[in-house]
Amino acid sequence: MAFWTPHRNKRDEEQRFDPALADFAVFEGVGLTLGGREVLKDVSLSLSERRIGVIGLNGSGKSSLVRLLNGLHVPGRGSVRIFGAETKAVRAQLPRHVGFVFQNPDHQAIFPTVEEEIAFGLTQLGADKQAARDGATDFLKRHHCEPLAKKPFAELSEGQKQLICILAVLVMQPELLVLDEPMASLDGLAARRILRKLKSLDQKIVLISHDLAVFDGFDRVIWLEDGQVRMDGVPGDVLPAYVADLDRRAGAAKEEADL
Ligand SMILES: Nc1ncnc2c1ncn2[C@@H]1O[C@H](COP(=O)(O)OP(=O)(O)OP(=O)(O)O)[C@@H](O)[C@H]1O
Ligand SMILES: [Mg+2]
Repeated sequence: MAFWTPHRNKRDEEQRFDPALADFAVFEGVGLTLGGREVLKDVSLSLSERRIGVIGLNGSGKSSLVRLLNGLHVPGRGSVRIFGAETKAVRAQLPRHVGFVFQNPDHQAIFPTVEEEIAFGLTQLGADKQAARDGATDFLKRHHCEPLAKKPFAELSEGQKQLICILAVLVMQPELLVLDEPMASLDGLAARRILRKLKSLDQKIVLISHDLAVFDGFDRVIWLEDGQVRMDGVPGDVLPAYVADLDRRAGAAKEEADL
């Protein structure tokens, strides 16, 4: 009779997260097809900078690209590694390393009160109910949001809702925070306050925005066009080139409805 002995295979060993790696994300020849449409085409990128922006027209593939960072999508072709681990193999563990914030806080929040929303992340990390509640209270205090703790999420202002969604992922202490147009539905004041909060964080950040002013102080901006990287560099190079392209295209449009 043959005995089965448990062992770690080489592949498991290779899939460990190493948050000390300089390149926190590596895309190699990534292709992604959604609903029969090729939305990303042969994208290769190494991301190491603390503050990275992603820009491009509607439908250029920005959301699809950043969703690959936390396993909301996995590549159909090529590979995406986060801190050295291939996302396909470690999908369930990714939320601990990559916090993801959506444009609409109402699509993200799932619990009735702020405290419960924050506590959930701690239960995901293994805390029991009481410890999670205490941890949530402490965490809200640390972020000067204690007065919101008992409030129903639905009664918060738009800015408060987005702040709580950001805190709800930060409580898991991810090394990377990915945000898909988090200020798009906020007024100018709330947007500035959220941006200031983001810029104060230790986490590495990948941020999508159509408002190019938010990239002031960023290390790198990636411009996507039609599922491919059109330009990738420092904001001082990429943003003016993007704006010039927008102006050129707007001027060249022949029909009013050509949007
Ligand atoms: N689940 C899906 N099924 C089919 N097509 C999809 C799906 N998700 C996205 N797409 C298509 O993929 C392309 C890229 O979409 P994506 O959402 O990544 O663009 P985006 O750059 O984030 O655009 P926006 O600025 O409007 O948010 C679009 O043409 C979109 O219609
Ligand atoms: Mg999008």
